[in-house]
Amino acid sequence: MDIATPAPVAPVKITVKPNGPLRVEGHILLTDADGKEWDLTGKPAISLCRCGASEKRPFCDGAHNRVGFQCMTSPGNLTGQ
Ligand code: FES
Repeated sequence: MDIATPAPVAPVKITVKPNGPLRVEGHILLTDADGKEWDLTGKPAISLCRCGASEKRPFCDGAHNRVGFQCMTSPGNLTGQ
């Protein structure tokens, strides 16, 4: 019996944008707390709001610029690293 090796799945990439959203690229399944899914057909990437000011949450609509959202972070900023 030949056991097929599953094809490697590319990881989803999430980029923390300086003073802006989380840019998510890859095969994305986005749901609300009840499991209802957003239709992301044809979208290879999305930007998720992390400032709380977007009128299109959970998506970024650029409001972070208007409200002056400030958050610069990188892995080296974590305590203990
Ligand atoms: S991060 Fe862009 S509107 Fe919130």
